[in-house]
Amino acid sequence: MKPRVLQVGALTPALEAALAGRFDVHPLWREAAAKAFLAARGAEFTAVATSARYGADRALIESLPSLKVIASFGVGTDTIDLDAARARGVAVSNTPEVLNDCVADLAFGLLLDVARRLSAADRFVRRGDWLEGGFPLATKVSGKKLGIVGLGRIGAAIAKRGGGFDMTVRYHNRRPVEGSPHGYEASLPALAAWADFLVVACSGGPATRHLVSAEVIDALGPQGFLVNIARGSVVDEAALVAALLAGRIAGAALDVFEHEPNVPPALFGLDNVVLLPHIASGTHETRKAMGDCVFANLQSWFDHGRLLTPVV
Ligand code: 8YV
Repeated sequence: MKPRVLQVGALTPALEAALAGRFDVHPLWREAAAKAFLAARGAEFTAVATSARYGADRALIESLPSLKVIASFGVGTDTIDLDAARARGVAVSNTPEVLNDCVADLAFGLLLDVARRLSAADRFVRRGDWLEGGFPLATKVSGKKLGIVGLGRIGAAIAKRGGGFDMTVRYHNRRPVEGSPHGYEASLPALAAWADFLVVACSGGPATRHLVSAEVIDALGPQGFLVNIARGSVVDEAALVAALLAGRIAGAALDVFEHEPNVPPALFGLDNVVLLPHIASGTHETRKAMGDCVFANLQSWFDHGRLLTPVV
């Protein structure tokens, strides 16, 4: 008998094919009455395959009395109720490391775009505005001050890229990172006041909700730029919109939003704002590596009783 795996939402075709070849997979999202289905047949499933987007909340975990393991596609676990998993003795894996480079690359793509106004300049040319005159001057990146919120694996990759642009890097964490060559700032408002570019790279979830507050945004100030490749929940989005509309920060470049895929319409008309649809890990290479990691975790669990990249 193949282990029964409940797939919460659509994953990559390659991962879905691999899962179907090794396990007995059921697509939950295709059930018209998911709650009734889980009540009737939830006990059949010992594993869940999900992603950072779909997660696994307490209700789902409690509806699966035979559940032993949750394998998630993505590094963020803020949509998985880890406390509920721990309480049930359910193991949880994510896909760390394999996406560090692409997410850090995109962070710098966003930083360069919003500073040098690349997307705005592209729109300028396409509108025919160049025929009427030159594009306004923008902001230099090389040699500037880069503040990183959350010096984890992705934050460290962003810091490394900052070195390539001769930037001075400082960071804010709950505690200093031992052995880091970068300056630690215990106060996030102080880091924002120091930085020319503040890049949000910390985990999402209740502990970091609105960590980038109105106070932090105002400390960043009218010469400062905010980049967010972490989670929309980390930034007080209403405060950010207000600051952008009032010109209290120089610009923002966002790949994640508090209520995505809904994006505040007030941002759409702002030329000093870059808006992306949560694509930081969205390359062929990285999404394949993420899918391979999900499959390898489930295979390891059922072959050897252990996960390769456990969160819980
Ligand atoms: C998502 C992400 O996994 O890894 C994360 O935490 O936010 C992304 O890589 C991806 O968008 C699929 O949900």
